[in-house]
Amino acid sequence: MELVSTREGFAKAASAARAAGGRLGLVPTMGSLHAGHLSLLQQAVSQCEAVALTIFVNPIQFTSSEDLARYPSDLERDLELARGAGVAVVFAPSVAEMYPHGEPETRVEPGPIADRLEGASRPGHFSGVATVVTKLLSLSGPCRAYFGEKDFQQLVIVRRVVGDLDIDAEVVGCPTVREADGLACSSRNRRLASEDRQAATVLFRALTQGRAVAVGGTRDAAQVEEAMAAVVRTEPRAKLDYAKVVDPYTLESPPDLGGGPRLLISAEVGAVRLIDNMGVEQ
Ligand code: PAJ
Repeated sequence: MELVSTREGFAKAASAARAAGGRLGLVPTMGSLHAGHLSLLQQAVSQCEAVALTIFVNPIQFTSSEDLARYPSDLERDLELARGAGVAVVFAPSVAEMYPHGEPETRVEPGPIADRLEGASRPGHFSGVATVVTKLLSLSGPCRAYFGEKDFQQLVIVRRVVGDLDIDAEVVGCPTVREADGLACSSRNRRLASEDRQAATVLFRALTQGRAVAVGGTRDAAQVEEAMAAVVRTEPRAKLDYAKVVDPYTLESPPDLGGGPRLLISAEVGAVRLIDNMGVEQ
């Protein structure tokens, strides 16, 4: 496994991997790898001849109220896990390497889709994500890029950026990995106080209930949203941010529940803001 920390080194390693024949899989992360990240790596390794993992805690996607400095990092452990997963190249640049002139003045603005839901609570977040993902895809060159459905709005936005800017990448969405009790794996889970850990399953419980109501035959999105909110109200440690039924491509409210909508939820549990989502089969 090759570890590179410069943009030039990454571009060269990615080209060399492609030249050796076959597809390059790219898995962008902010490190502190957990089972969700590992499932992306496994899927990439099974579908590509070479896989590159990027580890970069991207400062420009953190909003002022979030503590960038508190973001966990453990490169040695991540490298060990990457080696075990069969990764060929790890790109782990410094902030100065990625943004040598400081915060970039040129940014990728995904448009109104980035202002809703997570974007409303975290202004500028998706512009930061879209900018760094565009840089990573530009450095890597043609690839299959793997993103988790866990961050559903991010996945939809990345697909759109890649389409709108004609970036030579095939975006692959991967299913959400959960703990045994339904809590979606996330780097934020380790910040949950022990008494909040059980309460955090309320997001999964609300989604499951919302899906049951939708599958039960209602055509009314508001009824599904209320069913999800009602479950969150039963949990005193949780504070709902949003519980929404959306079209899976536009993230707008669907006219009815016919088109296989997506349920998206965010709640604060203790001091930790969590997100989750679930599809509704037609
Ligand atoms: P990070 O939070 O480290 O997540 C990296 C990738 O892992 C994302 O595509 C995310 O959706 C996926 N992921 C996280 N938890 C998951 C889970 N439980 N199941 C499946 N996939 C999961 O998302 C980011 O980093 C950043 O915004 C990034 C795209 C790297 C840009 O900086």
